[in-house]
Amino acid sequence: MKNFLHQNLTKKKILLRLDLNVPIHNGKILDDFRLQSTLPTIQALLEKKAIPILISHLGRPKGEPNPSYSLQPVAQKLQQLLQTSTQPPPQVLFHPQTIGPTTQTQCKQLQPGQVLVLENLRFHKEEEENSPQFAKQLSTLADIYVNDAFSVCHRQHASVCAITQFLPSFAGLLLEKELRYLQQLQQPTTPYVAILGGAKVKDKLPLIQHLLPKVDFLLLGGAMCYTFLHALGQPTGNCPIQKEFLPQIQPLLHSPKIHLPLDHITAPKLQAHTPTQIQTTIPKNEIAGDIGPQTRKKFKEILQKAKTIVWNGPLGAFEIPNFHHGTHEIATFLANLPTHILRIAGGGDVVAAIRNAKAYEKFSFVSTGGGAFLEMLSGKTLPGIQALHGE
Ligand code: 3PG
Repeated sequence: MKNFLHQNLTKKKILLRLDLNVPIHNGKILDDFRLQSTLPTIQALLEKKAIPILISHLGRPKGEPNPSYSLQPVAQKLQQLLQTSTQPPPQVLFHPQTIGPTTQTQCKQLQPGQVLVLENLRFHKEEEENSPQFAKQLSTLADIYVNDAFSVCHRQHASVCAITQFLPSFAGLLLEKELRYLQQLQQPTTPYVAILGGAKVKDKLPLIQHLLPKVDFLLLGGAMCYTFLHALGQPTGNCPIQKEFLPQIQPLLHSPKIHLPLDHITAPKLQAHTPTQIQTTIPKNEIAGDIGPQTRKKFKEILQKAKTIVWNGPLGAFEIPNFHHGTHEIATFLANLPTHILRIAGGGDVVAAIRNAKAYEKFSFVSTGGGAFLEMLSGKTLPGIQALHGE
C-alpha cells in the first residue's frame, strides 16, 4: 500500500476517513481510546502543512439527520486532545453538514493549521449504500483521500470503498499499524494461543472454526462457553443456551486444543452486590457470570508457555463488579508477560477491560476494531482494504 507521507502534501486538502464512533452520554465522551488512536495521522498531516478534513460515522442514525448522533462533541474533544499534544496546536472547526454548498465553501476557505470535522456521514443513507454519487460529492472537497479507519473497513460504505474511485487513495498510520500486527498472526511464532469470550456463539463460531487449525490452544470463556459445556452434557443452570448452534459445536469438541472453564463464579442473578459462589458444577437455579479460580490458574499455565497470544471477548460479565475478576486477572497476567511475547487484543469489551486493568500500554497491540478485528481474524478480506488496493 502506498504511503501518504511520501506525497507532496503542502496546502493539500486531505479527506481523512476516521472512526470517531465513540460512546457519548449527555455530550460527554465516555471513552476516548479511538480518538487518541487517530492523533498520529492528524499530526503527521499537520506537520506536512496539509489540511485535514475529517469524515466519520457515529452510531447508527439510519440515514437521517439526528442531533443525538452529531459529531460536534467529538470535534470539541479532538480540539482538546490536539491542543495538548500538538505544536503548534491546530484550530479544530466543525461544520454541521457533510456535503453540499456550505460544506464546499467551508472547505475552500480552510488554511494550514486548521482541521475541519464534517457532520456524521450516516445522516445520508447513500453512505451505507456505497453510493458513487455520494462518494463523488465527498471527493470534490479534497485533493487526496486517506483511510485511517480500520474498524470500519469491514463495511462496504461510500466513504470507505466508493470514494477510492474518485481520489488518489492511501492508508493512514493507524490502518497500517493494525494491518502490520494482524498480519503477524498469519505466521505466528508458536505456541500460539487464542482466548475467546463474549456472549454470542453466532459471532464467534466462524472465528473458532477458522482459528482451530492454526492455534495450539484455544481458551474459551464468556457467556457463549456455556453452550459448549451444554454440548458436552454438563449442567449449565440458568445460563442461556444457544441450542441452534449445537450441531456446529459438537464436532469441535473432539479437539484437544479447546479448553473450557473448569469452575465458575455463580449467583442467582447477574447483578451487582449479589452474593456469589465458586462452583465446579453450576447449580440448577444459578447462572455463571465468570470463570473461577481453577480455570484462571489453568489458563495462566497455558498462557505462560505461549509465544503468540490473541484475545477477543471478555471471559465473564466484566461490566458487573462481582464478575469482572476473571477477565481482569487474565488482562493483568498478559500485561506482565515478557515483552517479546506477542500479545494482540481487540473488540470493544476486551479493550475496555484491558484499559480498566491499566494493562493497555503493556500489550504489544490493542486494536481499535470490533467487527473488523473479528472478520480479519476469521480470515475474511475486508472491502475497505481491497478498495485501497484498487480491487
Ligand atoms: C465499530 O464500532 O465497530 C465501528 O465503528 C463500526 O460501526 P458499525 O458496526 O455501526 O458499522
